[in-house]
Amino acid sequence: MKKLHEILFLGVFTLGASSVFAASENSSFRSMPLEKWMPLQESISLKNLFKNISPLGTSPGVVVASPSQQNPDYWYHWVRDAALVMDLIVDQYLKSQNPELKARYLNAIWDYVNFSHLNQHTPTPSGGPGEPKFHVDGKAFVGPWGRPQNDGPALRALTLIKFARALISETKAEEAWRLFGIIKYDLEFVSHHWTEPCFDLWEEIKGQHFYTLIVQYQSMISGAAYVSLVGDSGAAQWYLEQAKKMENVLERHWDKRNSYILSTLNRVGGIDYKKSNLDASVILGVLHANTDSVFAVDDPRVESSLLRLKQTFKALYSINQSGPEGVGIGRYPEDKYDGYSSSGEGNPWILITNGFAEYYYRLAKRYQERGMILVTPLNQSFFKDLGFNLSNGNLKKEDRVFKSLIERLRAEGDQYFIRVKYHVDSDGQMSEQMNRWSGFLQGARDLTWSYASFLTALSHR
Ligand code: NOJ
Ligand code: NOJ
Repeated sequence: MKKLHEILFLGVFTLGASSVFAASENSSFRSMPLEKWMPLQESISLKNLFKNISPLGTSPGVVVASPSQQNPDYWYHWVRDAALVMDLIVDQYLKSQNPELKARYLNAIWDYVNFSHLNQHTPTPSGGPGEPKFHVDGKAFVGPWGRPQNDGPALRALTLIKFARALISETKAEEAWRLFGIIKYDLEFVSHHWTEPCFDLWEEIKGQHFYTLIVQYQSMISGAAYVSLVGDSGAAQWYLEQAKKMENVLERHWDKRNSYILSTLNRVGGIDYKKSNLDASVILGVLHANTDSVFAVDDPRVESSLLRLKQTFKALYSINQSGPEGVGIGRYPEDKYDGYSSSGEGNPWILITNGFAEYYYRLAKRYQERGMILVTPLNQSFFKDLGFNLSNGNLKKEDRVFKSLIERLRAEGDQYFIRVKYHVDSDGQMSEQMNRWSGFLQGARDLTWSYASFLTALSHR
């Protein structure tokens, strides 16, 4: 049986867009129950996301960050955004039962593979795979920019490894082999350059970043397992050695006194006003890396950091004082980027608010799988915030409280979705930001990453 969103999504290609929207046009999502909104938003997000993959006038494989070509100009292929979006497409490919859609996903992924290969061999100002963005015809962007951004190659490797593994499990060994050189290129770069300072994912600060390092760490772990599959045991060992060292450096980001993970250490350039060093990117790092144990979702230090972020943005943004319970989450409290320029005021972001929904869904799943919740002085307030006064120690799944806590975590995730539902346009359009005073969307419209973040979060629900 076809899933509802697949029917809606396919309809876009056969019947044209208008029919899909008949249900939602001119009616705000605010009063729509979450259960009804989610499948609708799912099909809209997929459709709008797809429009940003190889759109007219771009090379095949390009993922534009947004169709907006001025104020702001996001009409580029960002390596980070593209990797995160294509990761979602690989998930969809794996999940889809519909042959037509499956073929469409597969095509898009191969185009992305080929475009990535081109990017890797195009001379750029930074001279390596840390180059943050490319023109939509594949040419190097040579204007001034915060470069390099070394999370890009790590994220791209993680996405392509997932794809390679999918091909291998379909016994398409020869096709999988085509990916090897592209993946290895990024892994080699990460393994030899991770100690060098680079710009963060927000393209603002040069230094050592928790986000960058944790995705680099996971690329080494997944990379080692991947190259072992093809007998490259020397490389595997080298990657694991790097991962071990990275683990030690990641530990230094924990600020015991403030009880949150610091986003940047050893700053050498870029903006200097992020005094708190408190940044939602650490949560995105935890989600995107998805490690087994190093700063995993259920690490009490991650929970403690998340709570601090939630409280900070709750108090900071006017929209969070009314409307749904879910908190609109921004990048960091001192942010001045309003989606158009950096002399404004920061706002809550859709992709981060969706990320918080995803966090709670994944935490619930993790605890469920473990059958146990470890309560320490570090995460007691995190649970208290959800209405649970727990004493230190292990809470086991046999305990009555365990089940209600899992339910509570899911409900909390839903609150963040409800916050997004409250602010998205009536046609399901998702920009980059939600104005902190009015809640209206602002910044780049149809941000590809915003759609991907919704779809990824939903898949973990
Ligand atoms: C655009 C970047 O993409 C954004 O993250 C940044 O805040 C501003 N430029 C200012 O550097
Ligand atoms: C600005 C964001 O800060 C950055 O993370 C992103 O890559 C670009 N916009 C493009 O979406």
